[in-house]
Amino acid sequence: MKTNVGVVFGGRSVENEISVVTANQMMHAMDPEKYNIIPIYITKSGKWYSGEALKNVDNYRDTKSLLAQCEEVYVRPVYGDTNLYRCNKGFFQKAVLAKLDVVVPALHGTNCEDGTFQGVMEFAGIPYAGCNTLASANGMDKITMKMILKECGIPVIDYCWFSDKEWFDRQEKVVENIEGKLGYPVIVKPANLGSSVGIKAAHNKEELLDAIENAIQFTNRIIIEKYVQKLKEVNCAVLGNYYDCQASVCEVPVRSGEILSYQDKYMNGGSKKSQGMQSTVREIPANLPEATTTFIQNAACETFRALSCDGVSRIDFIIDEATDEIFVNEINTIPGSLSFYLWEYSRINFSALVDKLIEIAIRRQQDANKKVVNYGDNIFSGKAVQGAKMGGKMGGKLGK
Ligand SMILES: Nc1ncnc2c1ncn2[C@@H]1O[C@H](COP(=O)(O)OP(=O)(O)O)[C@@H](O)[C@H]1O
Ligand SMILES: [Mg+2]
Repeated sequence: MKTNVGVVFGGRSVENEISVVTANQMMHAMDPEKYNIIPIYITKSGKWYSGEALKNVDNYRDTKSLLAQCEEVYVRPVYGDTNLYRCNKGFFQKAVLAKLDVVVPALHGTNCEDGTFQGVMEFAGIPYAGCNTLASANGMDKITMKMILKECGIPVIDYCWFSDKEWFDRQEKVVENIEGKLGYPVIVKPANLGSSVGIKAAHNKEELLDAIENAIQFTNRIIIEKYVQKLKEVNCAVLGNYYDCQASVCEVPVRSGEILSYQDKYMNGGSKKSQGMQSTVREIPANLPEATTTFIQNAACETFRALSCDGVSRIDFIIDEATDEIFVNEINTIPGSLSFYLWEYSRINFSALVDKLIEIAIRRQQDANKKVVNYGDNIFSGKAVQGAKMGGKMGGKLGK
């Protein structure tokens, strides 16, 4: 019996296209003897579609004609219903397109990688690969992530943050705080985006104002960090779950300008066809002193554990070459191309990587099923109801 695997990608995210690449690479790597692959593409406006045509990346040049070859689908947020339904059932068609045994999200970015999609899976009780809702949400928000890591003693670059509302209400105060706390140069980032979108360095007040106005278009929470001028970026992936994980080899991505840009990440290599993170120019394994590699691999696992991750994440580091300090810059809980190119060095090919992700997903659902979700008797029966009725006498307290 083959396992029905829903591969979900696209989504209402600036990284929609990157996710199409990740998903297509993954679907082609998956063992067809083991799995029935059910592609599920979420459009930029949030509609879900399924169909064989989604398995060919060339078809995405003309999404209108691609979607015309597909069926619109949905899942119900009812616990235990793991079916994928047709929105428009033909007369001789069944309402259920497929029963999903497990889902592998190949989504990137906001509304996708941030716990939103994971929450839908939790609601339906569909086993799914990767981080759960909490870890996804914490990992996506650069402010929350840094607060957690700092609390756990994991080194992060000095930062401050503010909301768009604070910016609109008291701009001068916010600037004063940034200048006082960090000085220049700084780097301005929307808290919850990815792929370097909305990120700019600022070397003076004028550039700072410009960078903030730019970032604020994308989100309501902004993080400002000290800009590390002479830096080396090192990435390391982690595979496993919160109690058992392993680190991959490290990589050094090569950038062309002040920051590792969207272009550096996805549009290098001279290929017309985007190959997602596979097209980044990089050094693998990173040529680093052994102690640095070990430090990074340990800190990557510690980050994975602190955020309670599952599946595969990529943790990105910044080494300040002026001081030799090593900082965790960010975690990607659904990394581009699922970081398969790093696991190949650990003798885990893309196909085996997906097997592991599915195994971890199914085990997590089995473990979750063992936990207590209902507690005690129905408080509306018997004595408890009397207690509630006596609300006035009890001061309205139900002991919540
Ligand atoms: N504090 C910093 N100092 C210098 N460069 C930075 C700093 N933070 C990020 N960068 C540069 O900006 C890029 C994108 O920032 P990052 O935090 O990784 O956001 P994203 O989630 O968009 O990838 C990094 O890959 C790096 O090149
Ligand atoms: Mg990054």
